[in-house]
Amino acid sequence: MSDTSAVSLAAAFEGVTDHWTPRVVGRVNDQYVKVATLLGEFVWHAHDREDELFLVLEGHLVIQLEGQPDVHLDAGEFFVVPAGVRHNPVAEQEVRVVLIETVTTAHTGDVEDERTVSIATQLGDGSGEAVA
Ligand code: NI
Repeated sequence: MSDTSAVSLAAAFEGVTDHWTPRVVGRVNDQYVKVATLLGEFVWHAHDREDELFLVLEGHLVIQLEGQPDVHLDAGEFFVVPAGVRHNPVAEQEVRVVLIETVTTAHTGDVEDERTVSIATQLGDGSGEAVA
């Protein structure tokens, strides 16, 4: 991407209509920057090779981790789920998050779920260029 203008997260969220449907808003080397709204419980999964960053902008997010205590995130807090760790995000009320994920990261990791969203869909147009 060669965009030289600022990216507004507020504007980016206007393009987010469905829960659990990340939208790519930027790219830093091999990482995508995504925004998403979350509500309810997602699906337990793991990403074998990729760490995954959750930064909460609004709301309170619980990240359940297999064999470890839950991680509680309030607005302004982030957590990196290490590669290979099975996790499940839970939002009792709507949460807005920024995700930073390696471009190869599959939405639901090693699990195929009815809510799984392809990278092409997350990019918005399937052309390989992020929509900001
Ligand atoms: Ni994940």
